[in-house]
This record gives sequence, C-alpha cells and structure tokens, in this order.
Amino acid sequence: MCGIVGYTGAQQAAPILLEGLRRLEYRGYDSAGVAVHGGGGIEMVKASGTVERLAEKIDGGAAMHGVCGIAHTRWATHGAPTDTNAHPHLSEHGTFAVVHNGIIENYAALRAELTAAGCVFRSETDTEVVAHLLERSYDGDFLRTVMRTAARLEGSYVLGVLCADEPGRLVCVKEAGPLILGLGIGENYFASDVTALVGRTKNVIYLDDGEFASLTPESVTVYDRTGREVTKTVSRVVWDLEAAEKGGYEHFMLKEIMEQPRAVKSTIAPRLRSGRVELDIGWSAADMASFRRIVLTGCGSAYHAAVAGKYVIESLCRVPVETELASELRYRDPIIGPDTLLIAVSQSGETADTIAAMRECASRGAKVLAIVNVVGSTIARLADEVIYTHAGPEIAVATTKGYTTQLAALYLFAVWAAEGLGRIEKTRYNELVAALSALPARMQRAIDLNTHVRYLAGRWHGQGAMFFIGRGMDYAAAMEGSLKLKEISYIHSEAYAAGELKHGTIALIDEKRLVVALCCQTALFGKMMSNVEEVKARGARVLAVAPEGDRRIFADADDVLFAPKGEELFVAAPELVPLQLFAYYVALENGCDIDKPRNLAKSVTVE
Ligand code: G6P
Repeated sequence: MCGIVGYTGAQQAAPILLEGLRRLEYRGYDSAGVAVHGGGGIEMVKASGTVERLAEKIDGGAAMHGVCGIAHTRWATHGAPTDTNAHPHLSEHGTFAVVHNGIIENYAALRAELTAAGCVFRSETDTEVVAHLLERSYDGDFLRTVMRTAARLEGSYVLGVLCADEPGRLVCVKEAGPLILGLGIGENYFASDVTALVGRTKNVIYLDDGEFASLTPESVTVYDRTGREVTKTVSRVVWDLEAAEKGGYEHFMLKEIMEQPRAVKSTIAPRLRSGRVELDIGWSAADMASFRRIVLTGCGSAYHAAVAGKYVIESLCRVPVETELASELRYRDPIIGPDTLLIAVSQSGETADTIAAMRECASRGAKVLAIVNVVGSTIARLADEVIYTHAGPEIAVATTKGYTTQLAALYLFAVWAAEGLGRIEKTRYNELVAALSALPARMQRAIDLNTHVRYLAGRWHGQGAMFFIGRGMDYAAAMEGSLKLKEISYIHSEAYAAGELKHGTIALIDEKRLVVALCCQTALFGKMMSNVEEVKARGARVLAVAPEGDRRIFADADDVLFAPKGEELFVAAPELVPLQLFAYYVALENGCDIDKPRNLAKSVTVE
C-alpha cells in the first residue's frame, strides 16, 4: 500500500527514482511524485494517475536536477488521488519533503494543533502533518528532528525525509510497514520492497519496527528509537532482475500463471529429501502433539489458501482446524492459548491485519508458523517458525503463483505433521510424498490442457454476474476463482458452497446467468451434478471444471475446463489454473488494466 523509494549518490536521482517507482507501482497507482535536492533546495513534481504520467511530466526525470531524492506511488487513504494530495509533502517553508506509507492515526489531533498554531495545510492527507511537525521542531539536527517527530505519531508510518539544509542526506523510519535499505558503491537507497532495488544492488538491510536510518552516498547508519546505533546484517537478494520483469508476456499476471509449475517446484523440491518431507522448522513431532487445535489466518487469496489448507490438514492430521479472516480474528477476543498453533499465510508478509492477528494470538500464548513468500518480511520475522514459499517476486496485483505456492506449503505441512503425529500409514505417506513431487508437473499439465480458455473467455466475457459453486476443496478453489474474476474483470461474481446456493441465492439464477461448477472430487461428483441440475433447471448455463477425461460432465455442462487427475487432496492448486486463465482472458476481452486493477493494491499495509 503505497511505495516509497529514496536515492543518494552521484547520479541524477530522478530517473533512478522513477525506475524504482515503476517497480513499486503494484503497491498503489493512483498518483505519484518525486522530490530531489538540487543545488538551490528541494524541487518537487507530482501527478495524479500512474507513474508514467509523472514520468511524462518530468521528461523521464531529465527535467529535474539533483543527486539525492525521494519518491512515492500512492494508494489513497486520506484525500482523493489529486496532484495536491500526492506525495511528497513539503513543510511550510520548504525545509522538509516527506513521503509516507501507512496511516497516521492521530493526524486529526495533530492537524488541529498545527492549525491552531497558524499552520496552513495544502492537502487533505494525514502525511502533511509530518512535514509541518518536522519544520516546527527543527533544531538543525536532521536525524534527531525526525526522531522527535516520529515519537509524536501514532499508527503505521514508513517515512522517507529530505531536508533542504542537508543535500545528499536522507533519513527514513520504519514503523509497521516494510522498508529496506539498499547498499551500493558510492550510492545508497531505501525502498518499500527489494524489487525497486534489485536492478541496482543486491545487498540489502531489512529494517525492524522502530528503527531509523541515515543515508549518505558513502554511509548508512541505523538507529533504534532511543538514538543508539544498531548493527544490522546485510542480506543478499537471491533472484535477478529478470524475475521482476515481464519476460515477453503481455502482462505480469500471465507470466506468473505460467511460472506456477516452477514456483510450486521451488516450494516443494527443497523439502523432499530421501522420500520424506523435511520442513526445517524448530518443532518436533512432540511439539506438534501439544497443539490441540490449529487456526489458519490470512486475508484475500491467502485466506482462500487457508480454507483449502484446513480440509487437507484436518483430513490428514485429525486435529481440529479453524480458519478465520485476519481482519476478524484480531478484534474478536479469540479463545486462543498455548495449545493453539496459529498458521499465518501471506504472500507479501506485510499485510497489516495478518500482522495484528499474529500479535494478538501470540500475546495469548499461541505459537505462530508463517507461510510467506517475501524473505525478511515483517510476518516472517515475527513468527516463531517460517515456511518460505520461494515463489519469486510476484508483481501482478492479482496473486496467482503466490496463492498456489501457499497451497503447496500447506500440503507439505499437512503431510509432515500427519507423520509427526503418527496419524498416517506408511503407504499413504509414501503416496502423498509422490503426489507432492508430481505437483509441479500437474500444474504444467493444467496449463497445457486449457488452450481453449481464451475461446471460452470470448464466449462468456459479457456476463453481468457469475456464480462459482463447489464443495469441500472445490469450494475453497471456487472462492479463489471467483475473486480472480471479479478483481481483474470487474464482473460481479460470488462463490457458494454448492449445497448452499438453494438457500436464497438461487433466486438470482435465470437463463442469462453463467454458473462455474467445480466438480473435481470423486466422492462429491454426484452431489455436484445434483446442484448443476438445479441451476440448469432454472435456465443457467454451466461452465464446469472437471477431472481430465471425465466424459460424464458433458451430459450437463455447456463448456468444460479440465483439471489434471492426481491426488485429490491436492486438487485446489491444479484446478485453479484454468480459472486464473479464464479470469485473465475475460479481463483481456473486456479491456481491463489486468496488472493494476482499479482501487486495489497488492500489499495492504493499512487496516
Ligand atoms: C491484497 C492482494 C491480494 C492478497 C491479499 C493478502 O488484497 O491484492 O492478492 O491475497 O492482499 O496479501 P498477502 O500479501 O498477505 O498474501
């Protein structure tokens, strides 16, 4: 949610900052801005709309002169996405420019105080208070002034600050949001995400909450809240710039769909050793036995992965598993104690609600396992143990490989825990290990089987609304398939447990409606066919997702997408592939901005 980037070095800052913003645009894309320190003070340009609009306004950066600067791409919280509300924000006399990711919760009180003291505000943002507070408490010491100001702020704030008195120096602070420092030779950076930096440096420092950094071209110094210097570890980013580029695909989303076989392999392969699942987490089988129940949490697609994970874990481990949206769990006064294992699922590792739910549960004694893609992210660092999905950078706002690798990690966990708990026969265990090992090839088969999705998307893209139905794991996959469609194509779509549709929603079914019916579990196939009959009897058209080669489906469905056969417990991952492709091609037919759907952001670091 909002991307920030900062540069100080010997080169012109604006083109470098623009390049960083382009790579952070998945975090927000309603307006953008840059401030650089030229010889004569701070120069600033902002534009509503995309980073490209900003780039046009400053001639790709050539129109701005200065070797040190900060930049921002916004997902609006306070105030509409106008030029004025775009970041950076300047203090009254131009001493400070500020970019901010997060929400300053006490901004109204601070704004009232500043207004009473005669301060004139230009924007409607919460961020502008920071610029004015900085200037009003400035005593000539840039870093200490930022520290003093930060101490007055409540909420989440990752700030990047430029001071007119100190050309070549940047100060930044992280409180409840991601911030990474990039170390170059004769130049240094900060950014919300390594994707903004990886084209320029692979040496990074992950800041912790409450830490401040001062950057010059030659030095990077990190301080804690009390102003004491902190020694930080320098980490090396393992992937290359190409991983964060489109690689010939029209959209990142399509590239990431196609990458799923490889991504799922990266999750699974390192954890299968000598025919066993090895998770390298610090709990033994005995520790697992001390958990009387498991709670899975996350937001959006990560929550959908959790729902699919619940079926698999419960079925194999025979431990009660609940799922709860992180945004609900955090405020529910949950009954959670040391006998609970919380599994937090998150691609970015920065989702504010998931972080808060983890903290809430940990404070009640729960142990926390995180399933996360982004290495060094807040969720990974807060958790007791982590399973990284190793999906590689995911840029499209609508997650695809992020989701299926979360499923793969949950499958690994379920098989590992079932064995540790002694709840699984050796033969079944071996079968599941083989099925895990075969999952990447099954994902590839799912892609290969569905060459006609584009044709089907052409046929159905004009629908005003759709329903997705399924049972069990098919229902979990239906939730995700439906979300994919609505978030990128803007077609209204809902997922229902197939048996539930008749309790009200069937009133919306008529001859115009397309129902997507997921029928990939043998034991539930007959039940699904009854539900398909029910909607057909009301005139609906049916697009089925069925096991490869199952001819029975043609008796009832108008069109069919196939999911390759294999271990049914793991079906949610391969059966999602045709639905991702369907959503993609429907959105393409409808001329939507697929990688940057309206109103969304990939990393939601506010509540
Ligand atoms: C946003 C993204 C979704 C994602 C959700 C949770 O809404 O657009 O794709 O599923 O956040 O994100 P996380 O990074 O925690 O998986």
